[in-house]
Amino acid sequence: SHATVLLHPGFRVGSIDRRMFGTLIEHLGRAVYTGIFEPDHPTADEHGFRGDVAALTAELGITIARYPGGNFVSSYVWEDGVGPDRPPVLDLAWRTVEPNTVGTDEFLQWAERTGIEPMLAVNLGTRGVDAAAALVEYCNGAAGTRWADLRIANGRERPYGVRLWCLGNEMDGPWQIGHKSADEYGRLAAEAGKAMKRVDPSIELVACGSSSMEMPTFGAWEQTVLEHTWDVVDHVSMHAYYQEHDGDRASFLASGTAADRFIRRVVASADAVAARKQSDRRLTISFDEWNVWYLSRFPGETNLPLQRDAPRIIEDVYSALDAVVVGDLLVTLLNHADRVPLACLAQLVNVIAPIMTEPGGPAWRQPTFHPFATTARLAQGEALDVRVFGPTTATARHGEVPVVTAAATIDGQSVAVFLVNRGTEEIEVAIDHPGASLTLTTGHQLTADDEPARPGPEHAEAITAEHLRTIDLGGARQDDRTTIVLPPESWTAV
Ligand code: AHR
Repeated sequence: SHATVLLHPGFRVGSIDRRMFGTLIEHLGRAVYTGIFEPDHPTADEHGFRGDVAALTAELGITIARYPGGNFVSSYVWEDGVGPDRPPVLDLAWRTVEPNTVGTDEFLQWAERTGIEPMLAVNLGTRGVDAAAALVEYCNGAAGTRWADLRIANGRERPYGVRLWCLGNEMDGPWQIGHKSADEYGRLAAEAGKAMKRVDPSIELVACGSSSMEMPTFGAWEQTVLEHTWDVVDHVSMHAYYQEHDGDRASFLASGTAADRFIRRVVASADAVAARKQSDRRLTISFDEWNVWYLSRFPGETNLPLQRDAPRIIEDVYSALDAVVVGDLLVTLLNHADRVPLACLAQLVNVIAPIMTEPGGPAWRQPTFHPFATTARLAQGEALDVRVFGPTTATARHGEVPVVTAAATIDGQSVAVFLVNRGTEEIEVAIDHPGASLTLTTGHQLTADDEPARPGPEHAEAITAEHLRTIDLGGARQDDRTTIVLPPESWTAV
């Protein structure tokens, strides 16, 4: 079987915003404590942050980090996490004792040292306009007013200049502390956002969209929230997690198509609001939580026992199949570069993460690390408007889906092509590039198998050794057409 991928350097989707390669670092489980932060670790810097994790974060190519949640933010009192008094408090999202050792200053300074742009979320669950505006002033204000002066008293003279702000988290979800109706949230987000921009007009605001495409309020939620917040927000969020259900591999491998449909529907909802408002503005998306997550194995927020000391929760281990799906989800993101400038692989370390750690021990890469790192490195410049002509296949969850997906980017004379074969048979792909020559140099290929994932660094390394390979593509100049063979259930970057 075969497929054709058509590229033309003149047909472009749009610039790739580097902020598409973001992540989430939540106060959840071991993401912060024994994840990025572990003062007793042999690689810890003078501030208590693990050097090995920071190095892997850089290798992963992370550009922005959303913080401090996630669900955690919806009952977070940010003042508890700054200054000399740090009371331990009960976090209602994950029923964990939060020691408040790491707070806003520690996180923002870590981000600065690691060259990552911070994206802060404010609590619109249990708090409101006042606390949100105060936090913007604490971070970005100049000396001479209360909250900026508190930052200075806490040892940080220069404002942080945090540009990206999320107006709450998953406020459509009944599990969220302070869950709201679309009208309640829309009004609050509009007023909080207005006040935050009065403090610092240069910030960008993200309104909460839906927690998944399957939410009963999806679509209507976006419409109502954006009607209220249209004049103040810059982006609307979306969240999506995918997993294999009951051995249905074909549907799982088609997660990228589900994500594609989700993006198109959010775009349609935003554009419908624009139409009603006689506006030409094309609101953009912050896809600020996406990943593979075996959610069905998670007992749920309401059944969690009360825990302390950074418990091991949601530490999913990933297989080569999961990594292929992550690669395909990135193909979807690239194809929507014009409407998705912001995206966060959730999360960074230990919690549904590409990086794992042991306290006092090693840090390592899960299989999902590799397609992300390679895409973040190779996808530069602008996304091309790629057309794929090939077979489709029927799936139980998503109906008819393409077997081959592709994205391509162009940066000066360099072109990167990302290809996925979701099918169970090898497939030959002709990349048509009429009127342009391509010289293929190196390729990176990842293949899936049936092996269930097992925890630990040795297993992760063994999977990578077996399933990830670098291919030498010969470097011969090809006019008009280049042919490449994709193994079954594989992701390829050339
Ligand atoms: O990333 C884990 C959780 O998933 C986040 O806290 C929440 O926003 C989402 O439901």
